[in-house]
Amino acid sequence: MNDSNKTHQQLLLQNRAWVQQKNKEDNDFFKRLSETQKPDFLWIGCADSRVSANEITGTQPGEVFVHRNIANMVVHTDMNMLSVLDYAVNVLKVSHVIVCGHYGCGGVLAAMSDKQIGLIDNWIRHIKDVYRLHQAKLDSISDLKTRQNKLVELNVIEQVHDLAKTSIIQNAWTERGGPVIHGWVYDVANGLLKDLNVSMDSNEDFQAIFPI
Ligand code: CO
Repeated sequence: MNDSNKTHQQLLLQNRAWVQQKNKEDNDFFKRLSETQKPDFLWIGCADSRVSANEITGTQPGEVFVHRNIANMVVHTDMNMLSVLDYAVNVLKVSHVIVCGHYGCGGVLAAMSDKQIGLIDNWIRHIKDVYRLHQAKLDSISDLKTRQNKLVELNVIEQVHDLAKTSIIQNAWTERGGPVIHGWVYDVANGLLKDLNVSMDSNEDFQAIFPI
């Protein structure tokens, strides 16, 4: 359902209905959440409105710490992402960090075109770098949709590697042997998540050219 006539007042009303429903199901729900959060997962996903971390994983408030940006990027100069990662790994001590991309990602599609969009081009630039890294493989795929989907997947894999290159993840692996980092892709056409099987949980999993 995509109700374009929804007003902002309706969102406030729906919030009231949701609170009632939650209280009906579990009287202590909000009391418990107000005391602490102990999520076991950090989700790094796309800002796309169709890819809501809690909704698609069937998780509740309190279960997933979430960072979203255009095309689920791990950019080493992004203080916002680094702050979320540091807090999740070192304070909340999450066991898993999931980078989740999605097919049909507007950011990835924009990176495959030569059109200027505006300020966002500077962000998209990072995805173009992923394309350049894998250009031979990508250019050999003649079907456009297949090529786009491949870049979505390669982009996720590169972001998992970029996570592994952060001192935050490397130090956590040395100190406590975790978290496990994962690369997933969501299919907006059928709602299914796909594990790209690129999980890593130790410095030994990673190239020696990025030592601590
Ligand atoms: Co996207």
